[in-house]
Amino acid sequence: MFVLSDRVKMLAGSERSQRPMVIPKGAIRLEMGEPDFPTPAHIQEAAARAMRDNHTHYGSAYGEMALREAICTSLKRDFGVERKPENVLITSGGIAGIHTICATYLNAGDEVVLPDPEYSAYADSVSLFGGTPIFVPLKDDFHIDFSLLEKSISKKTRILFVSSPGNPTGRVLYEDEVRRLARLAVEKDFLLVVDETYHRLIYSSTKLLSVCQIEEVKDRSILLNSFSKTYAMTGWRVGYIVADEPLIKQMVTFHKTMTICPNVPAQMACAAAAAGPQDCVEAMRREYEKRKILVTQKLNEIQGLTTPPCDGAFYFFPRYEHALTSQKMREYLFTKGILVRSGTEFGAGGEKHFRICFATSTETLEKGLTRLKQALDELT
Ligand SMILES: Cc1ncc(COP(=O)(O)O)c(C=O)c1O
Repeated sequence: MFVLSDRVKMLAGSERSQRPMVIPKGAIRLEMGEPDFPTPAHIQEAAARAMRDNHTHYGSAYGEMALREAICTSLKRDFGVERKPENVLITSGGIAGIHTICATYLNAGDEVVLPDPEYSAYADSVSLFGGTPIFVPLKDDFHIDFSLLEKSISKKTRILFVSSPGNPTGRVLYEDEVRRLARLAVEKDFLLVVDETYHRLIYSSTKLLSVCQIEEVKDRSILLNSFSKTYAMTGWRVGYIVADEPLIKQMVTFHKTMTICPNVPAQMACAAAAAGPQDCVEAMRREYEKRKILVTQKLNEIQGLTTPPCDGAFYFFPRYEHALTSQKMREYLFTKGILVRSGTEFGAGGEKHFRICFATSTETLEKGLTRLKQALDELT
C-alpha cells in the first residue's frame, strides 16, 4: 500500500471520521445533521430548467452572477444590508468555504481560536492547513466566556471561527456577544468568521444579529453560509462566503484551484432558493419547532440529563451524569439501537455530552427518545 500523507493521517484519526460504516437494521438514527424534507419543488425545477437551457459548462470562479445577485437580495431581505455580487464567493458547500478560508489565511504556527465544543470541521481544517487550533471552553449554557476568550488571543491569532446558531449546541449568540466578538476582532487584529449556516432555523422569540450587520468589522469579517440546511439541499453542495471585495479576491484563488467552480445547475437552483418564495423555509422551520418542543419534553423526563435550550439549528447537546466517556456512551447507545454523535467529536468540552438531531419524523423521535430513556435508566 502507499504511505498516507501526514495530513490524511491526521484527518483519519480525528473523531469526526470515526462513524459506524454499517447501520444496524431497526436502529434509530438521531446522529445525522440533515433535513428529512425533500428539496422544494420550485428549486428542483430551476435546476432542471438550467440543464435544459444548457447551463452545463464551466462557470465563473466567483460563482454564477444570478446566484450572487440572489444572495445580495436575500441579505437585504433577511438583514437589511446592501451588498454587491463582488462581495460574494460561491463555494462547493459550506465545508469548501471553511477550507478556503483556512487555506487562504493560515501559515504554519498561526493560531485559530475555536469555542469548545464547536462544529468539528473547523479544527480539522485549521490543522490541515498548518494552523494551530486554540480551544476556548464555552460556559455551561454554551455562550462565550469572554474572560477565557481574551486570555486565549495572542499575537499569533489570525482567525476566530464560531457557528451561530451553533452546531452541536443549538445556541444562538446574543446580539451583545456578536458585537463583543466584532470589537475584539478590531482591537486584536484577527479575522472573525461567523458561520450562519442555520440562520433561518431560529425558534420562539430568539433574534439573530448577523455579523454582516456590524459595520465596524466589515473589513475583517466573513459571513459563511450554505444552502444545505435552510433549503434541505445537503446533496447539492452549494455554500457561500460574504466579505469585503479584497478578501473575496484573495479567497477565489484557492477555491478555483480546488474545484474551478461549483456545479452550475445546482447554483441556478440555489438562485431560485435565495430569491424565490420563502414560505417553504417557514413551513420546515415550523415543523422543526414542533419537534423541538416534543424532544425538550422527552429529554426533561430522563433522569441525569441537563439539556440547555435549543434556540436554533436542529440539535440538542445534553450533558449526562453517568461515568461513561462520551465515546463510550455513543458506543453503548449504538448497542441499544440509538445512533447519536459523541460529544468529544466537537472538542474536549463535549465530554459527558452527546448530540442528537431532531430533523427526523415525530414518530422516529418518539421511538428514539423512549429507547434513549430506557438505555440511560439501565445505567443508573
Ligand atoms: C455549522 C455548520 N457549518 C457548515 C456545515 C457544512 O455544510 P455544507 O458543507 O453541507 O454546506 C455544517 C454541516 O453540518 C454545519 O453544521
